[in-house]
Amino acid sequence: MRLKGPNARLVSLLYLAVTVSLLAQVGLGVKQEDFKTSEQVAFYRRHRAFADGVAKESRLLGKSASTQQVASPYSVLQDSVYLDGHTLVSSIQHGADKVPLKLSVSFLDKGIVRIRGQEAHPLLPRFDDTQKLVLRDGGANLKYASADSLQLTSETVNGETVHIVSFKDANHTASLRMTERPWTVEYVLNDKPSILLNSKGLFHFEHLREKPGADGEVDGADGAWEETFRSWTDTKPRGPESFGLDISFSGYEHVYGIPEHASSLSLKSTRGGGKEAYSQPYRLYNLDVFEHDLDSPMALYGSIPFMVAHNAESTVGVFWLNAAETWVDITREKSSTLGNLFRLGTSSKEPTVSTHWISESGVMDIFLLPGPSAADMYRQYADLVEQTPLPREFALGYHQCRWNYLDQEDVLTVDDKLQEHAIPYDVIWLDIEHTDGKRYFTWDSGKFPDPVAMQQKLAYNGHQLVTVVDPHIKRDTGYRIWKEANDKGYFVKNKEGNDNFQGWCWPGDSNWVDYLNPEAASWISRQFHLDKYNGSTPNLFVWNDMNEPSVFNGPEISMDKDIKHHGGWEHRDLHNIFGMLYHKATTDGLRTRESPNKRPFVLSRAYFAGSQRYGAVWTGDNAANWEHLRASIPMVLSNNVAGMHFAGADVGGFFGNPTPELMTRWYQLGIWYPFFRAHAHIDTKRREPWVFGEPYLSHIRSAIRERYRLLPYWYTLFREASLTGMPLVRPVWMEFPQETGMFSEDSSFMVGSAIMVIPATDADTSMPIDVRLPTQENWYDIRSHAAYIGPLKRQFATDLATTLVFARGGSIIPTRERHRGSSELMRRDPITLYVYVSQTGTATGRLYLDDGETYNYQNGAFIERELSFENAKLTSRPSVRTASSPAQLEFLKAMSKVRVERIVIVGMRNPLTKAVVVENGQTRTIELSYAGHKLDSECTIRDPAVLVGNDWEVTLS
Ligand code: NOJ
Repeated sequence: MRLKGPNARLVSLLYLAVTVSLLAQVGLGVKQEDFKTSEQVAFYRRHRAFADGVAKESRLLGKSASTQQVASPYSVLQDSVYLDGHTLVSSIQHGADKVPLKLSVSFLDKGIVRIRGQEAHPLLPRFDDTQKLVLRDGGANLKYASADSLQLTSETVNGETVHIVSFKDANHTASLRMTERPWTVEYVLNDKPSILLNSKGLFHFEHLREKPGADGEVDGADGAWEETFRSWTDTKPRGPESFGLDISFSGYEHVYGIPEHASSLSLKSTRGGGKEAYSQPYRLYNLDVFEHDLDSPMALYGSIPFMVAHNAESTVGVFWLNAAETWVDITREKSSTLGNLFRLGTSSKEPTVSTHWISESGVMDIFLLPGPSAADMYRQYADLVEQTPLPREFALGYHQCRWNYLDQEDVLTVDDKLQEHAIPYDVIWLDIEHTDGKRYFTWDSGKFPDPVAMQQKLAYNGHQLVTVVDPHIKRDTGYRIWKEANDKGYFVKNKEGNDNFQGWCWPGDSNWVDYLNPEAASWISRQFHLDKYNGSTPNLFVWNDMNEPSVFNGPEISMDKDIKHHGGWEHRDLHNIFGMLYHKATTDGLRTRESPNKRPFVLSRAYFAGSQRYGAVWTGDNAANWEHLRASIPMVLSNNVAGMHFAGADVGGFFGNPTPELMTRWYQLGIWYPFFRAHAHIDTKRREPWVFGEPYLSHIRSAIRERYRLLPYWYTLFREASLTGMPLVRPVWMEFPQETGMFSEDSSFMVGSAIMVIPATDADTSMPIDVRLPTQENWYDIRSHAAYIGPLKRQFATDLATTLVFARGGSIIPTRERHRGSSELMRRDPITLYVYVSQTGTATGRLYLDDGETYNYQNGAFIERELSFENAKLTSRPSVRTASSPAQLEFLKAMSKVRVERIVIVGMRNPLTKAVVVENGQTRTIELSYAGHKLDSECTIRDPAVLVGNDWEVTLS
């Protein structure tokens, strides 16, 4: 239905009224009927029916054979297998339909294996731009294994041919085994079949086909050429083109990742698995889910099809590179079938997690990442999709947001009040109401008569502004953005491809720019430039919301799948990257608005693998209750597990009004989210930190100050992530890979490798908290410095002032201890180093500093120190990446007054009396005093006066 003119306006006003009143009624819970279950999705149903058929036949086969067998109809065509450089090529075919599929298995650097498959002679091209838009350099510069490190042999085992490609590199002795009948692939790592494809026989590829004629010939396949959901019809002009495959992790009980779901960290079974299991598969389909459920595999705002499996020996990953709707079923079993399947004579009773992935369209493109450590696996993943770049430093500070700060005066009052209450913050945010009638890039001039003056006032104390710029463009001929995009033909088109796709969102009737069109994407990027975006200054940054995309009157509150994008592609092919393409365009715009370029900051709600390159994400619309507070931990962790590091949840909970206790606890947790923002729905009461009065204000203030104190540690962590791909916040297992009892731990977590956080998440704030400190190591309460020896399992008493945070023995943590109003104002502040001594009397750490805003660090303008403590001597040396360059010298000069003002050694057993400091060949001695010390085992070297950029050592005796 398309309405035009005044009718359309009326309807959209009505619709908005309904939406707003719905939004106002907090506590209704998700409207399940708005979203599909797997049973309501035809391609899922077809794969399920296929899988059930295979399972049944496999059971029959099993009865007649001595070993268990799998009844997959797909086999490798005889003589089709050959090694072409770094790629094993083969053709496989379904026994009945005989349509050949071309399969390539490529061997990449670091043991990564890539498997791609589609029709050998496709009737129509399949959407294959996902790789260009997601992979590093568009996939053009992937590093392949050298052809001579690969060896192909073929064996006959029990009358069946097995092709084996063996390879060796520094970390792996591995082989990939491919059986012909049925087609299966086994990735054998250190002699163990670890990642198995099609071992359950669920591989099923719906080849493109001619539409059955009107002469009565019926295709028979369920929902293959048309499908309806409520009042929407998906016309499916290309017919069925989905594919599915089972991927089993043999020897593993836990899998993680595939955000975004409000689920546990260790993913649950979705088939079998008793009471704990979900009755639906995990779904990956970016959706705006109003008041979403908790403990659910339902799709949410972002999708990253990257799964990680971990056991005490190794960590491996699977990246399923596909941007269409995808479902993942998970089952667990003790399996003895795997070795037998290949009739290789081995039969192990390994625990196995089997997963079944089904995507609606596109090309089958899968990466197997062999680890073996988590650090190895993240380097492999980063090779594919890049790391998180170093963000603008202010973005690590505290973000103060609400829907909405009413006007300019309100903004400046909040700014003043935060300063008055001595609460540091970096950014104040403006939601949709700041615009002229939800026309983004404009201002409501009544409320914001002088946005530039407002930003200048904020900037005076180092504060920034973020404005929301949503992707829906109000249909209004008088609105420059709409008119230009319309004139240039930049909007996404309707199903027929002959007019703009039209839908409803905040402004009423809207169109959406088609970011798949590179010209349209660079046009929208330019709109963020200072000369285009009126009222913006270099202190303004951007928030992309509703970019799943959210379409109020569309199927599942999104776009119809059969509408058309650039190149004639259907929305279904790229739905899950649509939000990321907008995030990218926005980031590009902010990055290039100044010369030389500066680091941008953009927050996005929708995301995909690769989004980490463009900025931060948050978990969307949560609620002000304790359950949501708890759920945010596995949600933020799962994002980090999947490489989306810069993530957070709305502190305080978006819907509803938090109690002062909840608010306090949420700040105490939120300071440990990589992205730390308080936000609130328009209908909630004001809740800036001072609103709650004492003692809450003091607790909130000290939490926020704790974040600022640790900014040097956070920034150094981001630096590490930007080089290695390692998560910022980590599940406990990632730091303690053999701590099997903590593999599903998701109420405590690590920040980097040095800090363990055990948040208080109970409404009864005096409730004792279960603490588990792994491994045989010292742990120190980060505030009192009281020492505990791990492994330890006990309850700790709490009150509202207390949060349980422990520093791991053996780490050195850099801080800045002076209170300032913003991160910018702290930039030249001296550093304090905390040395938390391990059981063997040692500690190591790192400190990274740069100018926090430009790209000069890429030319060497940074200070990166390796800190180590051994034999009572603390040493600061330059990192291997430090090299003399004009840019570095200039930065060192700028930092020439920044010194280490204090060193606190925690956990020394012997009393110490003096410190001998050597810097630049100069020696001085400092007498140590214990006055004011909390513990005998703690000693402070006050003002060693060494410069952060210099080599120095401090010896204690
Ligand atoms: C939905 C977002 O999730 C929320 O954070 C925002 O406040 C509203 N849209 C209004 O823009």
